[in-house]
Amino acid sequence: MSLLSVNNLNIRFRTGDGYVHAVNDVSFDIAKGQKLAVVGESGSGKSQIAMSIMGLLANNAEAEGEVLYEGQNLLTLPSAKLNRIRAKDIGIIFQDPMSSLNPYMRIERQLGEVVEQHEGLSRSDARKRVLEVMEAVQIPDARNRLTAYPHEFSGGMRQRIVIAMALICKPKLILADEPTTALDVTVQAQIMSLLDEIQRELGTAVMLITHDLGVVAGFCEDTLVLYGGRVMEAAPTLDLFDAPGHPYTRGLLRAVPNISDASASLAAIPGSPPNQTRAPVACPFAPRCVDAIPGCHQTLPELTGDRQQRACIRPVEELT
Ligand SMILES: Nc1ncnc2c1ncn2[C@@H]1O[C@H](COP(=O)(O)OP(=O)(O)OP(=O)(O)O)[C@@H](O)[C@H]1O
Ligand SMILES: [Mg+2]
Repeated sequence: MSLLSVNNLNIRFRTGDGYVHAVNDVSFDIAKGQKLAVVGESGSGKSQIAMSIMGLLANNAEAEGEVLYEGQNLLTLPSAKLNRIRAKDIGIIFQDPMSSLNPYMRIERQLGEVVEQHEGLSRSDARKRVLEVMEAVQIPDARNRLTAYPHEFSGGMRQRIVIAMALICKPKLILADEPTTALDVTVQAQIMSLLDEIQRELGTAVMLITHDLGVVAGFCEDTLVLYGGRVMEAAPTLDLFDAPGHPYTRGLLRAVPNISDASASLAAIPGSPPNQTRAPVACPFAPRCVDAIPGCHQTLPELTGDRQQRACIRPVEELT
């Protein structure tokens, strides 16, 4: 059984101007210990997928489908049960460390409180665990920094603390939403190799949301490409980089001069993002697609294929 199984997930937001269809019929699985990258340009629905897994969707959201964690649907689980899973089994790392840390709380309390509450550890056992996890994320001189406040750390160190917080309950799944975007390139690389090391050691599954194809190539065995809230392509990362099967993926990779360049970004495909006021009835990428034929504007392509799945009505051989 998959650790996480997302089935036909649809998320729409009620707004003053009608609905925004942010996530449309998205399905994917994450196995124990698997690392899945979710890529796509801004607004493609990456963060909202993570939010639905954490039960953190905004009040104006309506979600349909299933988000099964070890067989339990997180979308309909009573909040007491959801809270337990959320605290113990799933860790989250957001882009901006300050949004996860309380600026008025010392680091030891901030981290320790979680394990005291959810695992019933005593104050002194909690402190031991905090120290362990601070050492695991390589905070220098951790023992003497237990009483520091978040602002006393550099940006990179703060992000290490956020990772420590996500890890402290030894979760089975980590959702990392652009964990390094706010950091400079050298620190980004350090944080990613730290995550990699920890992941190998603990066998934690990771869903890594990123704009950065360079990071994906080095870290995740599988990649899901989103556009307009729909999955365009889902494949083992190496296959996808070797022979991208969807025009959107091809465009993304072409837009990146060198995939090992850590600052590679996805913004370079001409055209504007799709209109999401209606659920898509045709390929959302068609208006920007160099390979589009009339049929692309009329039908909604299914995601098909075996190892490498793609949602495109045109045969790969015919793509430019
Ligand atoms: N509360 C909300 N009300 C209305 N629309 C929303 C709300 N939250 C998100 N959206 C819309 O949902 C869509 C998907 O947003 P999401 O945050 O998942 O994008 P993303 O892929 O994470 O983008 P980025 O790379 O910029 O973080 C966007 O069009 C966004 O404007
Ligand atoms: Mg986002």
